[in-house]
Amino acid sequence: MTESDKLFAGSIPRLYDTLMVPLIFEAYAADTAELVAAFSPSAVLETAAGSGVVTRALAPRLGMGTRYVVTDLNQPMLDYAATRQGSSKIDIEWRQADALRLPFEDASFDVVFCQFGAMFFPDRTAGYAEARRVLRPGGRFVFTVWDRIEDNAFADEVTGAVAEIFPQDPPRFLARTPHGYHDVALIRSDVSRAGFTSIEIETREKTSRSPSARDVATAYCQGTPLRNEIEARDAGALQAATDRAAQVIASRHGEGPVAGKIQAHVIVAAR
Ligand SMILES: C[S@@+](CC[C@H](N)C(=O)[O-])C[C@H]1O[C@@H](n2cnc3c(N)ncnc32)[C@H](O)[C@@H]1O
Repeated sequence: MTESDKLFAGSIPRLYDTLMVPLIFEAYAADTAELVAAFSPSAVLETAAGSGVVTRALAPRLGMGTRYVVTDLNQPMLDYAATRQGSSKIDIEWRQADALRLPFEDASFDVVFCQFGAMFFPDRTAGYAEARRVLRPGGRFVFTVWDRIEDNAFADEVTGAVAEIFPQDPPRFLARTPHGYHDVALIRSDVSRAGFTSIEIETREKTSRSPSARDVATAYCQGTPLRNEIEARDAGALQAATDRAAQVIASRHGEGPVAGKIQAHVIVAAR
């Protein structure tokens, strides 16, 4: 992972939330919120919350008096999330925090969860151990990661299309980071090494839908850190890369509304 892989700032928070979230994150957010709410926690910590898609789904499902702390490494993502959060019966504590160095006491939460953030942790086992540290005995750590890029159609196609623009040095952000941590045996071993005992892993396939190939291309090329990687090679090439990705997706999925397979692992571990 490079430093720019974890930089969600500038125009990324808005484009991420308006284009990426409905495309691939919203459907899993509904599942994550349901899973977490089913534990009826009295204190919940969300890490790598991004633009708050799970926060919006979960807050209305938590009981009155629940403590809900929402964190992310990048303050611009949290700022954006806060503007999108409607009123809810519980107060949300927004706080910038690195999931590997949580500013909370030991045994403070019943559930810690992280949707599609663990792939960005420089040391996953250290991140999981940190989640375990702030969990009460019997608490749950819930997290999701994407499966391999070949099982996530649009991400794979965008990566191939952008490689045509930079054949000598193809930007590999999507394959390297969001889709770079999918081996179930490795995930189980990392979670176990962090001290968790009961570990359940389920692989879930869903369908990603968008009104157009253009929206998909803009989402991936401009609303994720792939943008940082393209601009680092040639700031003027962002539009050409987006155009090529839109052409490739339209050629495979048609003009007009498009749909593609997405797949992720859902992990629940008990402390
Ligand atoms: C793909 S987004 C997922 C956001 C959100 N959970 C969702 O499902 O839409 C990844 C998020 O991880 C955050 N992130 C990256 N490294 C992190 C770290 N070490 N600690 C906390 N958050 C981190 C990024 O700022 C970004 O918001």
